[in-house]
Amino acid sequence: METFTIEGGRPLSGTLRIHGAKNAALPILAATVLAEGQFHIYDVPHLKDIDVMLQILTALGAKASHVDGCVSLDTTSISVTHVPDDLMGLMRSSIFLMGPLLSRFGEVTISRPGGCVIGERRIDLHLSGLTALGAKIEEVDGYTTFRTKQLRGNNIFLSFPSVGATENLMMAAVLAKGTTRICNAAREPEIVDLQSFLNAMGARVRGAGSDTIEIVGVPRLRTVSYRIIPDRIVTGTHVLAVGVAQGHIQLTNTMPEHLTALIEIARNCGVEIKTYHDIMEIKSTTRPRAIDRIITQPFPGFPTDLQAQMMVFLAQARGISMIKETIFEGRFKHVNELTRMGASIFVDLGTAFIRGVNKLYGAAVEATDLRAGAALVLAGLGAEGVTTIEQVHHIDRGYERLEWQLQQLGADIQRTTSIS
Ligand code: UD1
Repeated sequence: METFTIEGGRPLSGTLRIHGAKNAALPILAATVLAEGQFHIYDVPHLKDIDVMLQILTALGAKASHVDGCVSLDTTSISVTHVPDDLMGLMRSSIFLMGPLLSRFGEVTISRPGGCVIGERRIDLHLSGLTALGAKIEEVDGYTTFRTKQLRGNNIFLSFPSVGATENLMMAAVLAKGTTRICNAAREPEIVDLQSFLNAMGARVRGAGSDTIEIVGVPRLRTVSYRIIPDRIVTGTHVLAVGVAQGHIQLTNTMPEHLTALIEIARNCGVEIKTYHDIMEIKSTTRPRAIDRIITQPFPGFPTDLQAQMMVFLAQARGISMIKETIFEGRFKHVNELTRMGASIFVDLGTAFIRGVNKLYGAAVEATDLRAGAALVLAGLGAEGVTTIEQVHHIDRGYERLEWQLQQLGADIQRTTSIS
């Protein structure tokens, strides 16, 4: 079992390069199934979920290596279309294999996907979208198999702009016959990155970043070399870390235009943020001001993946703030742990009311999911005394050695491993 131990109260300083985006890398790695040959994908973070994706691709027949952020993949020998159950259960993103495998081989079998326990996380939009493209679904003994002779383009309306469903359907449609229009598509930057990757492979996709994506099917795709965009959630976590622990840092390899909602709110609360091209400079020297209300929304709204970290920031603000979570219903698990550290937070009907306190205090707490875990790390940085965080493996799903990143910024945080 791995634990973080944090001695709080040290302001942050220094420079950190932000690693590539997990949520862009996962669908892009899955999309390599769409062509035969050798890919090189750069700036792929070394994370548990990426390892699982590479293990899945290997189990399907690919050859994969991941050295210094570069994934080299040879997809020539992929022939298996059944995503292994044990790997499928390890992460939700295994569902990204559905679209590309079905598109290239006309068949895919999956079992129930795993992932962070943050609400119900249905996959009905993936299923109905693939059906609209002509896949036949068969469910037997907990396995779902999709089959098709040839996917055919169609108009698909998503009742909610699901990020994963938009990406899965884009990957399914690129080799379909005819034109597909995904309406009410998600607009996240990772979807734009997937479009760039697919188009570099020879696909004809346009509209990503807007609510309508049009895909004209092509007969085949080619292999490419590609660099993943910087991780906006990791960037945002460090912006808020400065807000919580105080200090003055520089982040390089960022795309501030992906964080407009966060930057606006953090500035309103008193954090100084300057941006120059891909560099962000963040400075905070006082307790933040509270903010009336934040509502998590699909991009370009405030991201649910920064909600927990934002709550820690507001837990020490002057005044009362409110955060409404609208994307995932089970995403307030950090509240209990923060309360143990002295925070004053009351949750009712998907809304958290946060009365800012002067100080948080170190405590023994547990990471319950990825972003909740990151939030507890921030709380530990700003708290008086020592915080220990258990179940660090959740944090490792989305942050490449978060303790190392924060050590670069002067934080006193250590990872310890014990045999449990
Ligand atoms: C992606 C991100 C995740 C982020 C989330 C929302 C990746 C790998 N993960 O997850 O970090 O928190 O976007 O920004 O990119 N829904 C359905 N039916 C479906 C699909 C989704 O009802 O078929 C619901 C979900 O239960 C959830 C909401 O839609 O309540 C958002 O889910 P979605 O946008 O699909 O998120 P993910 O792609 O799973």
